[in-house]
Amino acid sequence: MNSFSAGLRGLAVAGVATLAGMTGAAAQGTLVLYCGVDEAWCRAMSTTFEKQTGVHVDMTRQSSGEIYARLRAEKANPRADIWWGGTGDPHLQAAEEGLTEEYKSPRLAEMNDWALKQAERGQFRTVGIYMGALGYGYNKEELARRKIAAPSCWADLVKPEYKGEVQMADPNSSGTAYTAMATFVQLMGEEPAFVFLKKLHANINEYTKAGAAPAQSAGKGETLVGIAFQHDVITVAKRNLPVAVVSPCEGTGYEIGSMSIVKGARHPEEARKFYDWALTPEAQKLGAQFGSFQFPSNTATPVPPEAPDLSKVKLIAYDFATFGSSATRTRLLGRWTSEVKNLPR
Ligand code: G6P
Repeated sequence: MNSFSAGLRGLAVAGVATLAGMTGAAAQGTLVLYCGVDEAWCRAMSTTFEKQTGVHVDMTRQSSGEIYARLRAEKANPRADIWWGGTGDPHLQAAEEGLTEEYKSPRLAEMNDWALKQAERGQFRTVGIYMGALGYGYNKEELARRKIAAPSCWADLVKPEYKGEVQMADPNSSGTAYTAMATFVQLMGEEPAFVFLKKLHANINEYTKAGAAPAQSAGKGETLVGIAFQHDVITVAKRNLPVAVVSPCEGTGYEIGSMSIVKGARHPEEARKFYDWALTPEAQKLGAQFGSFQFPSNTATPVPPEAPDLSKVKLIAYDFATFGSSATRTRLLGRWTSEVKNLPR
């Protein structure tokens, strides 16, 4: 096929798709969902909601920082209706910047305290949907093969034996990596944290786009260590890959995974319908069924047995108000990009 006829065919296909989309929208409604969790869970949420309500879901999976940046870019002409999942800090930043809409779901009364607090901090433009503790995973077989002692602290990751052996995401795109950076700042103070991040940089083999990717690479032995949420390491271990999860000895930060309705959404009714449904135990149970083991926000949702036991994790008192604020996020990300990311290794 030459490029001209390929172009014509593309046009025809696009035409059919648009017509089909319009018919569906007229008949049952449409929801444009920007989804920030694992792809399998995103798909399960979309198809189940579609089946139960007849609302057609147009879903895109991206990392937290990418979705935030996209909402900002689309502010004058919003495409998305709802942002479901991903770390809470960029949801708070979006709330502060007026990119998202206030909504008080009748389901709020069923939420755990930490999920409600997140809603209050974001002037009810967001709400907590799950919680997860940060940590890292290491490949047990590779570690044994190289005769390295098992790591147990953040401080271990800057030791010379880990040169080129640690993976983490880029905090600009990934909420996981931003949580890591904010955790170091809260544990050590900002200046020592940047000294630490520079030392860590010397041991990093790659900054990935998505936060869960380093855990997956550690499972496959492509990196010795992957910094990630502990539940993401457990997801990999459940696939029979030789990865162990570490809850760092110094203490660690956590996320309040969140959901927000986009300001100026074209399908606000469908967005609120999804929002209410996503807070039910029935919807929240889909996470564990599809391999994601966060701590759910509805008090009646069963906690997956695979979820890390948070009573055994030394959680810091993560300051969401500060580290989810526009000023702090913008400043810390700018600082990391200019002072750390491009240092020679
Ligand atoms: C994974 C985790 C979620 C987390 C998300 C953040 O999907 O299971 O708990 O919210 O990553 O993704 P990001 O790519 O922004 O780090």
